[in-house]
Amino acid sequence: MRVVDWGEFAGPLIVFGGVHSNRHALDALVALPEAKVCTGDIVAYCAQPAACVDLMRSENIPTIAGNCESQLAENALDCGCGFEDGTACDLMSARWYAHANAVLNAEQRGWMGTLPDWAVLTHAGRRWLLVHGAPSAQNRFIWSMTDLQGEIAVAEAQVGPVDGILAGHSGIPFVREYGRHIWVNTGAIGMPAHDGRPDTSYARLDGQQITIERLSYDHEGARAMMVAAGLVQGYHNTLRSGWWPSEDILPDTLRAQPRVA
Ligand SMILES: [Fe+2]
Repeated sequence: MRVVDWGEFAGPLIVFGGVHSNRHALDALVALPEAKVCTGDIVAYCAQPAACVDLMRSENIPTIAGNCESQLAENALDCGCGFEDGTACDLMSARWYAHANAVLNAEQRGWMGTLPDWAVLTHAGRRWLLVHGAPSAQNRFIWSMTDLQGEIAVAEAQVGPVDGILAGHSGIPFVREYGRHIWVNTGAIGMPAHDGRPDTSYARLDGQQITIERLSYDHEGARAMMVAAGLVQGYHNTLRSGWWPSEDILPDTLRAQPRVA
């Protein structure tokens, strides 16, 4: 477990994650004027893992490791999301992971291996902890209705009192007050939030205001890159439709379709 302190950020701050190898989305985000920090998963479903890593590095955007970076740095066999064998997520992730594995070079993997697991920062008088999925596990999916008490206890046992957690991984954004804490899931910039819209999401902290913002970008360009790379197992259509190809990982209340018994 490696924890870094990124110090204090002044002015509006963008917190984002889930770039998911979507360089078109990252280009749009980088063009925004605010300071930025990243919760990881620079690499995943889309076609340009190396170009995304290169832009994150050339822009010097502070980032922690997502499960995708941790797995690629270790030359692991899969993305480490913890999908159950044979689920749609498991089958579809195999293809993009193989693509990323083939495209990324040893130096880029080495950089991924240097990324911290957690980061602490202060902004507008609040002390925040950045984690990828959850304090208890990098790849835990946290939803807006998940009980958070145990997670906050894990965080504070490690880094001391915080005002909130900034996280990603699950791909659906929310801002939730939980006792005296705030939990922010930024959603992902590289894949829509399963809401029928192609624009994606990130969080913006401005003083005490925390908002989830939408990112419009050239999603057709990103989709065309996926098709050209043979990444046509389903997520390429998500970039256009805004709907995930599978609801395997979603709790019932976040599903568009009722669960079939
Ligand atoms: Fe993740």
